[in-house]
Amino acid sequence: MRIDIITVVPEILDGPFSQSIIGRAQKKGIAEIHIHNLRDYSTDKHRRCDDYAFSGSAGMVMTIQPIEACIEHLKSERQYDEIIYTSPDGEMFNQPMANQMSQLQNIIILCGHYKGIDQRVRDHLITKEISIGDYVLTGGELAAAVIADAVVRLIPGAISDETSALSDSFQDNLLSAPVYTRPADYKGWKVPEVLLSGNERLIEDWKYEQALERTRRLRPDLLGEE
Ligand code: ADE
Repeated sequence: MRIDIITVVPEILDGPFSQSIIGRAQKKGIAEIHIHNLRDYSTDKHRRCDDYAFSGSAGMVMTIQPIEACIEHLKSERQYDEIIYTSPDGEMFNQPMANQMSQLQNIIILCGHYKGIDQRVRDHLITKEISIGDYVLTGGELAAAVIADAVVRLIPGAISDETSALSDSFQDNLLSAPVYTRPADYKGWKVPEVLLSGNERLIEDWKYEQALERTRRLRPDLLGEE
């Protein structure tokens, strides 16, 4: 899978993709993440990518020209399944969406900034708008990092223990059961007895009951029980 991220602040994205699972997925050739500095595509002599809003409302608006130039450049090199814009008014990102996106070959993520982008970019170039939550970030870069992380780890081979991505919270609309490691007794804080029993069936039943109980208590909406 290839993810092209377009941003005016590429520095924000230096960190997240070089480490751990995403870094390894890139080294293994499972995923490629390319960061593009939008300013490189601006024809403005000061490499500006924003301008005043016609409506006179406060805040700058991202202009069409560099965005169109960058997207057209990428599209001339390969076909894209989705051209995504990160925005608080987009569709809410969730696990089913991450699962579906992990099956795609090539995607572009355009990071929003300033007061927004010229609506004509959304009308003519963007195929999907995604929000990562009901709050406003200063830019879409962190949202792009969240989306790329959630998607790349689902690509087969990205995680060494493939079953661990399948047993994630949300994968079957249930939160995960709690997990424990050694020691079995830490200053009197004990691991549930059943986990030490060695009885696989009992352990599986216990995990399911725990997952159900936690979901009911913490996220009843996932069970349609709100
Ligand atoms: N840009 C600013 N806030 C955002 C959010 N909540 N989700 C996605 N992109 C954003």
